[in-house]
Amino acid sequence: EIQDVKMRKVIDSRGNYTVEATVILDGFCGVSSAPAGASTGATEVLAFPKGGVDSGIEFFNRNVKSSLMGFHAINQVQLDSMLKDLDGSDNFSNLGGNLATAISMANAKAVANALKIPLYRYVGGNLANSIPRPMGNVIGGGKHTRNGTTIQEFLVSSQGKTFLDSAYTNAMVHRRIGEMLSDRFKDQSVGVGDERAWTANISDEDAIELLKAAVKEVSSERKMEIKLGLDFAATSFFENGKYVYRDRKLNKDEQIDYAISMAKDHGFYFVEDPMVDTDFDGFAKVTAAIRDKAIVVGDDLYTTNVERVKKGIEMKSSNGILIKVNQIGTLTATYEAVKVATRSGMKNTISHRSGETTDNFIAHLAVAFSSTFIKSGTIGGERLAKLNELARIEEDLLVL
Ligand code: PGA
Ligand code: ZN
Repeated sequence: EIQDVKMRKVIDSRGNYTVEATVILDGFCGVSSAPAGASTGATEVLAFPKGGVDSGIEFFNRNVKSSLMGFHAINQVQLDSMLKDLDGSDNFSNLGGNLATAISMANAKAVANALKIPLYRYVGGNLANSIPRPMGNVIGGGKHTRNGTTIQEFLVSSQGKTFLDSAYTNAMVHRRIGEMLSDRFKDQSVGVGDERAWTANISDEDAIELLKAAVKEVSSERKMEIKLGLDFAATSFFENGKYVYRDRKLNKDEQIDYAISMAKDHGFYFVEDPMVDTDFDGFAKVTAAIRDKAIVVGDDLYTTNVERVKKGIEMKSSNGILIKVNQIGTLTATYEAVKVATRSGMKNTISHRSGETTDNFIAHLAVAFSSTFIKSGTIGGERLAKLNELARIEEDLLVL
């Protein structure tokens, strides 16, 4: 039984306020906080109501808290639907999707603690036995930086024997790219974006060359395959019907060809949000062309929303999906999107957000959801909170 739920403000990795929830049961508790996006999808739930974090907490104290007292925390599905009902809107615009996310997750953690089992086991059951591969952002631009590439993220996924091996090798690629950028911009300092990927005043083509060069070196040094990924986050540079790059504008067909060439000519294995988030058909064309060699991933396209996933399945829009709990607001709704996507054969990738906290719950969800990848950067405490937790979980699974 829930004895108390406390909501508090905490600060995220960008220095903005977000929320953390503590759910208290008899003798056990769960604590969880919610992250924040910068290139948020149009169909995501609202992170906070109009008045911001404070209004969300006020709404919670006035309209939600009392209904949670005495509730049987083990009924996660019921709890999540109650949060929806008490909010009363269809996009959490009263309570705030981040408050719902924090409460939903904190409740699951509290129950896992009370049952004395790890969170991944509680959420995923006996099927939760596989460890994802880390997919880490090494060069970034878009809305995560001020003057970087148009494409939001260039990623690597090292295929090591263990999770830690892979994560360490991803970090080596990150370091190598930093060195290469310093060589190139000798009298300037280079910086990092919100997710700690390197950012510099370079074109997308330059970034691809740099990425490939660094990967080649590290891959041979570590004798390890390293897969390439990218997140166009295409909605963020779609203006008046065109995809606007620094030096050119592409129409729909040209953007489709460009995305296809990323897989066919440059060997990218992971191609996220290649088209604007309303273009299920454009996604389908990219997917049809490269699905035998790459995963096309819908992030802003789906916003972890099961109805949008169903549309994507019907239209064959992608063979992959990105999962972020606070795009949809509850663990149950997230689970539904994952279930439907997985049943149709999509590979799922659990993901951090550009503004993060040190909460590690997505590490557990990656195992619970049998995710192919986890996107959680390569360095930085708020990113490593997840990566290092997966190293611990892997140790756990080996013992069992
Ligand atoms: P975010 O974007 O800024 O919304 O977290 C990350 C992503 O597009 O994958
Ligand atoms: Zn994305």
